[in-house]
Order: sequence, then C-alpha cells, then structure tokens
Amino acid sequence: MEFKETIRKRYSCKKYSDRPLEKEKLDAILEAGRLAPTAKNLQEQHIYVIESPEMLAKIDGVTPCRYGAPVVLAVAFDKNNVFTYPGGKRDSGVEDAAIVATHLILAAADEGVDSCWLNFFDPDKAAEALHLPENEEILMLLDLGYAAQGAGPLPNHGSRKPLTETVSYI
Ligand SMILES: Cc1cc2nc3c(=O)[nH]c(=O)nc-3n(C[C@H](O)[C@H](O)[C@H](O)COP(=O)(O)O)c2cc1C
Repeated sequence: MEFKETIRKRYSCKKYSDRPLEKEKLDAILEAGRLAPTAKNLQEQHIYVIESPEMLAKIDGVTPCRYGAPVVLAVAFDKNNVFTYPGGKRDSGVEDAAIVATHLILAAADEGVDSCWLNFFDPDKAAEALHLPENEEILMLLDLGYAAQGAGPLPNHGSRKPLTETVSYI
C-alpha cells in the first residue's frame, strides 16, 4: 500500500470479528517494529505476543479495551538499557518503545490489519499479569485483528486540528 494511503486508512478499531490473524501478517508487523529506530540503537524494546485464550483472559482482566481482538501485543522496554539524555531529566525508554509501537500500528494498517493502541490499564498490574521481569516496563498494548462487520472509525477519527494550530514557523 502506498504510504500516505496507509496513514489515511489506519484508525482505532474498537470491535473485532473472530477472524484469526494470519502468521505471515503478524510476522510482517513484528518485522516493522524490529526496524524502528531507537536512541543509540539500543533496541531496548521487548514485544510480547498474546494469543492464547488464557493470556487473552489476563488482558481482559487489566483492560476493558481488547474489544474481541484475537491478538494483543504488549510493547515493553528494558529499563536498564535506556539512554539518559544530557541533563539527566529524561531517558529513551518510553519514546523508543513508542516509536516501535508506531511502526507496528502502521505496518498493521499496511497489511490490512485493524488495530487499537491501548493505554487504559495499570502498567504495574499488566506487568504482573504478563509475568514481565523486574527490569521491564510496559508502554502500551496493541489490539490486532479484523474489524467486525459494521465496525469502523469513530466520528472523532476525522477530527484533526489544522496545521495552523499545531505548527509554527519560527
Ligand atoms: C497513546 C494512545 C492511547 C490510547 N489508549 C486507548 C485505550 O486505552 N482504549 C481505547 O479504546 N483507545 C485508545 N486509544 C485510541 C484513541 O482513542 C484514538 O486513537 C483517538 O481517539 C483517535 O482515533 P483514531 O485512532 O481512530 O484516529 C489510544 C490512542 C493513543 C494514541
């Protein structure tokens, strides 16, 4: 798919059919995450693929926002392998994981796979439910699957501020 069309086509899907996600498509999505840039090329991300009924039930225990998706990715990062920027006030963990996650959602759209970025959960409870090691922090969950019949973008999908409100030439 052409890049601009991929960006236009992506939306947050909030109702999935029970159509399974093909392995090749999941692999292509994960590969796009692998190629994401990270600060100092640290690649501190760790992505968990959740597709068993037992683990999906655990996701349902920490968020109401799976919406029936057959696959959920949890994007985490290694807190002990981040780059601390000069000044010491910020480090790369959250933003590197967010770049990886952005690659994943755009790659999903490119594959014709619907998705939704989730942050409506307690990260500590999610880490416990998924048995993440102590050194990892979870950034986001990503629903993946195919929209149920009749599902589509919410009305706010088309509501974006004009560039005049968000861009300044200085
Ligand atoms: C950082 C982030 C967190 C989000 N968390 C949730 C969430 O927990 N649950 C949910 O249903 N949607 C969530 N969304 C989806 C947004 O509600 C949605 O992206 C936004 O309303 C714009 O809609 P669109 O993606 O269809 O353009 C999240 C999106 C982003 C970018």
